Amino acid sequence: ITIYIPGDSGALAVGADKVARAVERGLSARNIEAVIVRNGSRGAYFLEPMVEVETMVGRVAYGPVKASDVHSLFDAHFLDGGNHPLALGDPEKIPFIANQTRLTFARCGITDPFSLDDFRKHGGLRGLENAVAIAPAEIVKIVTESGLRGRGGAGFPTGIKWKTVLDTPSDRKYIVCNADEGDSATFADRMIMEGDPFVLIEGMAIAGIATGATKGYVYIRSEYPHAIAAMEKAVAVARKANVLGVNVLGSPNAFDIEIRSGAGAYVCGEETALLNSLEGKRGVVRAKPPLPAIQGLFGKPTVINNVMSLASVPIIMDKGATFYKDFGLGRSRGTIPIQIAGNVKHGGLYEVAFGLTLGEIVDEIGGGTASGRPVRAVQVGGPLGAYFPRALFDTPFDYEAFAAKDGLIGHAGITVFDDSADMLKMARFAMEFCAVESCGKCTPCRIGSTRGVETLDKVAGGIEPEKNLALVTDLCNTMKFGSLCALGGFTPYPVMSAINHFPEDFRPVPVPQA
Ligand code: NAI
Ligand code: SF4
Repeated sequence: ITIYIPGDSGALAVGADKVARAVERGLSARNIEAVIVRNGSRGAYFLEPMVEVETMVGRVAYGPVKASDVHSLFDAHFLDGGNHPLALGDPEKIPFIANQTRLTFARCGITDPFSLDDFRKHGGLRGLENAVAIAPAEIVKIVTESGLRGRGGAGFPTGIKWKTVLDTPSDRKYIVCNADEGDSATFADRMIMEGDPFVLIEGMAIAGIATGATKGYVYIRSEYPHAIAAMEKAVAVARKANVLGVNVLGSPNAFDIEIRSGAGAYVCGEETALLNSLEGKRGVVRAKPPLPAIQGLFGKPTVINNVMSLASVPIIMDKGATFYKDFGLGRSRGTIPIQIAGNVKHGGLYEVAFGLTLGEIVDEIGGGTASGRPVRAVQVGGPLGAYFPRALFDTPFDYEAFAAKDGLIGHAGITVFDDSADMLKMARFAMEFCAVESCGKCTPCRIGSTRGVETLDKVAGGIEPEKNLALVTDLCNTMKFGSLCALGGFTPYPVMSAINHFPEDFRPVPVPQA
């Protein structure tokens, strides 16, 4: 018997370790021989800890399981045909899981994250095998033709970035994976690093072979200790099996990976601040140009890609550019792992082709708010993303469609708010966040964000609200067009969307008459 209990930190946070210990005790008390696999999560967090048991007819799932449920689950599973209030049946048939299109997350929650055999059995390494057999320029061409765009948020075509690095001659090149997943409501990078770390390693090795880089770094935020440990373990396994190291899969290509951890600064998710941090310097943004693709880590040509971009490459190299490109809408090709969080009933990760509307994601997949109150606003794209009101719920999930509504997809995290949300407070929070996290290099962000907090406080206090709202708008324009990076440049999105879509929250509160 094999029993799967997620070791994913989202599942651990709701008691997966306690459940695992209770299962171990139950097995020895009943003299049942079984193997416990600590898998990743399938992403249906509202069902975690979700325990799966391998049976003659495939896996059956139970969830959300507490340690105190384990005794009755043993009785139900072994003596009563699985009849239990927590029984979920075939996990692949749970609607939240069954209705997804899992390309990047195909194995996450299914395989043993540290078994290379399991990885291979489920389609792993085929992309890398194909890549070592062709010329670097061919790999770059396939990735370009797939239409894959940077999943960190900016949506820059991955193949074109790789081509710049391939075409820049140098004695040394680097692949840097940005795993500083700092956006609110995002956890896709963490989930894949903990649940299927080999897919990221495979993607980075392909990027190395495609561009002539021999060394890769994964820069993981310090708040992700489980992901750091998982990646270190997986890199050691891959190195031993020649997937990494001097002789990648028996070919003359050499590529190796080192894991580095951040120190808690949001701005180190910005690529040039990240490079400074990796070099041991303070995490301050560098002016571009030069682009990292030409002069990046230690001044050498560097591919810097988000975890999701690199983890999407193996399936493209396995199944081909057309296979991947056939999913999606307009210029947004392939699938996107949408992370649904905040005040929502069915929170979790939902991988699907681009094109679902925001309303479908929030109301149908997310099931509306957890509080049961009406949805008032949804912030898409992290703390620098715009707040969308219900009136814009027909917007399709697509880079250009969101940009046309003054919003952004970002890293595809969405945070749901019910009608108790005070949008003036949310606008103030955006300015405050920017003030706290600013690296201080440029004036519009460093000073503008603090002035923004003060001016919004005046609006809240009813001090010349119209004049002060006009000042905030003016300030947002200066920050948007005058900031050096996205932190100062995108803070106007949450602020202005709150002002424009929820003007009633910015009107002065009438002072009660004596
Ligand atoms: P950007 O538009 O300046 O650059 C996009 C990428 O393309 C960069 O890697 C850049 O170096 C590269 N690039 C541009 N032209 C190139 C060329 N000709 N050849 C090769 N490479 C080229 O955007 P930026 O400032 O890097 O990212 C902003 C985005 O980051 C925002 O959209 C935001 O959503 C996202 N973001 C993501 C966070 C997360 O947690 N994942 C946190 C905060 C922001
Ligand atoms: Fe630094 Fe803010 Fe300027 Fe970005 S916008 S470089 S975080 S001061």
